[in-house]
Amino acid sequence: MAAPRARRRGRRAGAGPRGAWAAAGLLCAALVALACWAQLPPAPPSPPWAPGAPRPPVGVLLWWEPFRGRGAAGRPPPDCGLRFGLRGCRLLTDRAALGEAQAVLFHHRDLVRAGAPSPDGAGEAAALAALAAAGARPPGQRWVWMNFESPSHSPGLRGLRGLFNWTLSYRADSDVFVPYGRLRARAGPGDPPAGPLPPLARKRGLAAWVVSHWDERQVRVRLYRRLSALLPIDVFGRGGPGRPVPRCGLLHLLARYKFYLAFENSRHRDYITEKLWRNALLAGAVPVVLGPDRANYERFVPRGAFIHVDDFPSPAALAAHLRFLDRNAAVYRRYFRWRRRFAVHLTSFWDEPWCRACEAVQAAGGRAQVVGDLAGWFES
Ligand SMILES: *[C@@H]1O[C@H](CO)[C@@H](O)[C@H](O)[C@H]1NC(C)=O
Repeated sequence: MAAPRARRRGRRAGAGPRGAWAAAGLLCAALVALACWAQLPPAPPSPPWAPGAPRPPVGVLLWWEPFRGRGAAGRPPPDCGLRFGLRGCRLLTDRAALGEAQAVLFHHRDLVRAGAPSPDGAGEAAALAALAAAGARPPGQRWVWMNFESPSHSPGLRGLRGLFNWTLSYRADSDVFVPYGRLRARAGPGDPPAGPLPPLARKRGLAAWVVSHWDERQVRVRLYRRLSALLPIDVFGRGGPGRPVPRCGLLHLLARYKFYLAFENSRHRDYITEKLWRNALLAGAVPVVLGPDRANYERFVPRGAFIHVDDFPSPAALAAHLRFLDRNAAVYRRYFRWRRRFAVHLTSFWDEPWCRACEAVQAAGGRAQVVGDLAGWFES
């Protein structure tokens, strides 16, 4: 952990005499090397052209602080080494450092907002394109389009053709794939699973749902209406009939329910959010999912870990199954088998996407790439 920091300090200390030292380095090539090296300042950073030299840290600039619509300067960047064990990342927040960044992260929502009033977000895209055309985009620098909303809530995609080099999103086929969460293999029996599984005796309620945006036209609201006529479902959050989340906190609250309605706001490939990872799997409630199809969920979660609304011909059949599980503890418990082998990893926003972008740059070769039809890909 200490190594990258020490290296960075070394670089900074050597920054003053670097010009002189570079000149000395050039002389070295022509003159007797040993004599020359002896005159160098103590412990200089290895010259970038030396074989086996430690690679300079990868600079990743965050163009906007996500959802704030302004530059990220002032936001303290995370330490990717400490947080994710990734060495050699230099996270930048100051746009003045554009020239030093190997990658620049552009958060889609802020790009569109900044581009107002043009509804397609082309305003800001045009500004960025002008920046690129003005030569402010160093060769080799990658512009990364970052988005965690589903296509249904991502306006303005069409103005962004050919502007970015990479995509970073929850889509598994992104250049930088950052899901909302994932199951990781437990290191051993001592590695706690996804938090203690609350004893069934403490599960007082049958099903819970947390919703902040209520829209009667949404599939999830229509399904809730049908189910709530058949089952007791407690709704929390700012939307519709939601009650405020009590002071004990979300995870404690949801742990008291047998089922959690992990209903996504829209159904799209790989669009599986913290509703599944945090509110259900981490809290210890069996997820009833509405989102992409079952096969899509099974790419990320064992098949026996969740109930898919598509498994049932009608809301009544789904309700009957939940009633059955409510009465049969042994069958209900089978939904928690995954916890023996896996723990839940929740993605930390926005630290983790930022550090993962750095990791991707480190792993990538020099191959140039342009995201042509961004809308066509993301909406597919
Ligand atoms: C990034 O995309 C631009 C076009 O938007 C392209 O000119 C440049 O070569 C690309 N760079 C890399 C490293 O892929």
